Amino acid sequence: MEQEFVLPIKKRYRSQNNESPIEVPDILPNAIFDYTSYPKMLLNPHGVFEEIRVLGAGSYGLVILIRVKSNNKLYALKLINVMDWRSRNTLETFKTEVEILISISIYPDCDPNIVCYYESFQLYYKPKFAAAATSYYAIVMEYVEGITLDDYIKTHTMTKEIAGKILLWLTSVIASLHAKDIVHRDIKPLNIMILPDDTLKLIDFGLGCLINGPFEDYCRRIVGTPHFVAPETAENHLFLLDLEYWKKNDVFSAGVTLYQVVEGINVHPYNIASGFRLNPELRLMTWSDNCYNSIVYEMLIPNPFDRPDAADVNEKFQKQCILPMLNE
Ligand SMILES: Nc1ncnc2c1ncn2[C@@H]1O[C@H](COP(=O)(O)OP(=O)(O)O)[C@@H](O)[C@H]1O
Ligand SMILES: [Mg+2]
Repeated sequence: MEQEFVLPIKKRYRSQNNESPIEVPDILPNAIFDYTSYPKMLLNPHGVFEEIRVLGAGSYGLVILIRVKSNNKLYALKLINVMDWRSRNTLETFKTEVEILISISIYPDCDPNIVCYYESFQLYYKPKFAAAATSYYAIVMEYVEGITLDDYIKTHTMTKEIAGKILLWLTSVIASLHAKDIVHRDIKPLNIMILPDDTLKLIDFGLGCLINGPFEDYCRRIVGTPHFVAPETAENHLFLLDLEYWKKNDVFSAGVTLYQVVEGINVHPYNIASGFRLNPELRLMTWSDNCYNSIVYEMLIPNPFDRPDAADVNEKFQKQCILPMLNE
């Protein structure tokens, strides 16, 4: 018999920035978590949803596909183990992800390019796929029925059209986040989903940051995935204390991602072992005559002060690469 709890007081999620509670749809009736009055949690998970399968696991989260019994719909449930060895950071990671998603893509105002948020809470739970019950922070998200860009690159032959579409999409999503003073800080193929109709969605805002937002200390930590962070991040430059500069880090990570879209996920444009120096042996060999290459190389400029921002890259790609093709 699983151990179950019932929420004593039903409470809506309340954003730290808002006086009035945000109305969210009642997906999991007993599972509303107000993190501003942490710790508060508890629900009856086994009665409310059924687990279908594991969708993925990253550095922080286990993501499972669930079917909510009351409406028979599918959702993705991201579970972050409260007792993780990095538990000093897990609550902040969770809060950050929730706060960012609420500000950009919350049901019913879902952004088509960003995974949609439903609600969040804390629960004591034993997933089918875990050895024991434990306490988790949980986020209910839209189930993105696709594969990661990482899997796509491994299993598909890339065409210039698809690569160009990914470049255009990625730089445009990043530009729109940056315009809202949000940085993602973990742009990579594993955090991008590609759907069967070739549309794309950005996921995983766990390392993200709202510039001028509520979690300044968290934002000032150096975070990212080693193979994707910009040289200034790897070298922990002091100017990153001005959070604006993290925007340039996203552009660089997108550059590495777009490089791998063409060259494969195991190739890096830089020789990381020798301190992030451009590896002169490595070029975008496959499409050496392509406009895509020159744009990606600009995104990979080591000096952040010379590196363009996402909106400029997007505009340049449209003007220099797409327009001439249309006029041919
Ligand atoms: N909403 C979703 N729908 C489908 N699969 C998802 C969803 N969110 C995450 N995943 C899968 O789970 C993996 C880990 O999720 P992610 O949010 O990136 O966690 P982490 O912060 O641990 O990296 C992703 O790479 C992806 O394969
Ligand atoms: Mg991830």
